[in-house]
Amino acid sequence: MNELQRQFPDLPDWEKLYQQQQVESMPWYNPILDTDLEQALKKLKLERGTILDIGTGPGTQAIALAQRGFRVTATDISETAIAKAKNQAQAKGLNIFFQTDDILDTRIEGKFDFVFDRGCFHVLPPERRQTYVDTVHGLIVTQGYLFLKCFSHLETREGGPYRFTPEQIREVFGDRFQVISIEETAYQGTLDPPPKALFCILQKY
Ligand SMILES: C[S@@+](CC[C@H](N)C(=O)[O-])C[C@H]1O[C@@H](n2cnc3c(N)ncnc32)[C@H](O)[C@@H]1O
Repeated sequence: MNELQRQFPDLPDWEKLYQQQQVESMPWYNPILDTDLEQALKKLKLERGTILDIGTGPGTQAIALAQRGFRVTATDISETAIAKAKNQAQAKGLNIFFQTDDILDTRIEGKFDFVFDRGCFHVLPPERRQTYVDTVHGLIVTQGYLFLKCFSHLETREGGPYRFTPEQIREVFGDRFQVISIEETAYQGTLDPPPKALFCILQKY
């Protein structure tokens, strides 16, 4: 049994997981800004603006984005994840708006310049994907970007999140977003080797 299967024979009860485990030992824990997002921000020359980090978990990405000057809202379905992430941000003196929230039944209002999703979409039930697309579409300004990182179909470990081909991403998001790019990459965290991933840049029509 590999590490992903050991921790997630099925998709986890997120709240229980964050109550029981140190975030630093979770497979997705990455203390620095995701390198694919970093490159995308550089390429698109994005240095300021509002960003929603969906499924923020340990909050490392929200923190790294706030440190770069973005105005960050960070949400997660787990109250404990939000509490832990909030502590980290406060300790660093950062002003991030954290809220416990289910993206499939969101209470978040307003529109953001960007949305980042590093690992939330790929754990959602397939039958709820359209709700996700419609919700996220409604949370972004016209021409705003959705940066999406998910497991790739090339990842062969058993267990863990759903995997996607670039064609599937186009199929799910294509009606509502222009697909700017979909790159094969890796999901940096605590697993070795890191899982194979897709990094997608999608722009709201
Ligand atoms: C793979 S983890 C990634 C965490 C974080 N984005 C990171 O990269 O460190 C997925 C996260 O999505 C959260 N999540 C799962 N379902 C969700 C939902 N319906 N709405 C909001 N967050 C959700 C989980 O609690 C978990 O923190």
